[in-house]
Amino acid sequence: MVRSFHLDIRPDAQTQIVRGIELFQQWSKIAIADRGFFSVALSGGNTPKAFYSALAEAEMPWDKFYIFWGDERYVPHDHPDSNFRMTRETLLDRVPIPSDRVFPFPTSAGDPAIDAAAYADTLKQVFNGEWPDFDCNLLGVGGDGHTASLFPGTDALKANGWTTVGDKSGEPRLTLTVPAIEHSRRVMFWVNGAGKASIIKTLLTESAGLPAQQIRPEGELIWMLDVAAAAELPLVGI
Ligand code: 6PG
Repeated sequence: MVRSFHLDIRPDAQTQIVRGIELFQQWSKIAIADRGFFSVALSGGNTPKAFYSALAEAEMPWDKFYIFWGDERYVPHDHPDSNFRMTRETLLDRVPIPSDRVFPFPTSAGDPAIDAAAYADTLKQVFNGEWPDFDCNLLGVGGDGHTASLFPGTDALKANGWTTVGDKSGEPRLTLTVPAIEHSRRVMFWVNGAGKASIIKTLLTESAGLPAQQIRPEGELIWMLDVAAAAELPLVGI
């Protein structure tokens, strides 16, 4: 059951980033005071790149950050499609997060199921056997309503462990499951640009049963948008 729902629509991607940095500074301060660290599961894709680059310039308690991913493509970590590589280039290579607090999905076993299970073991180790209660699980959405690597109509949506193998039209992906994401203290969908306006309208105004609509975190659910992505919402668009 979602404890609170926030729809935050910012004028543009730049002001969205400014708000995102403010929230990370607020949330990390609270988390570190309460539990001594701030855990974030990051999204891949293109949308968050500008946010990660701006985060790298911001004042943050980096030494107390623990970094995870919501999903990963099944490629080597130095592959152009790797979410880990994208995050390393935009953020991790530019901030002083201790390397033993950065937990990428492994992708070298030659079998996605083995690597997905290994990541579940890592999460269990880091979270003392409990479900991962990320302080922020940052997610994107695709034009088909997928999030992380939970694609419409795939078995991954039914998985009830910590991780599973996603299926993007036959391409294997590694992903957190719906229950693993839902145990987050906060889930923040980070979406911007006119190209996402149609799927945002569907996701926020229709019961379409799409993967991004199935995520109901026990904590806060935040949809962080810019006006362009919100343009087809009844209260926003003209
Ligand atoms: C990935 C992401 C994926 C992404 C959406 C949106 O591995 O690509 O985790 O879920 O967030 O596909 O991607 P864009 O931000 O590139 O539109």
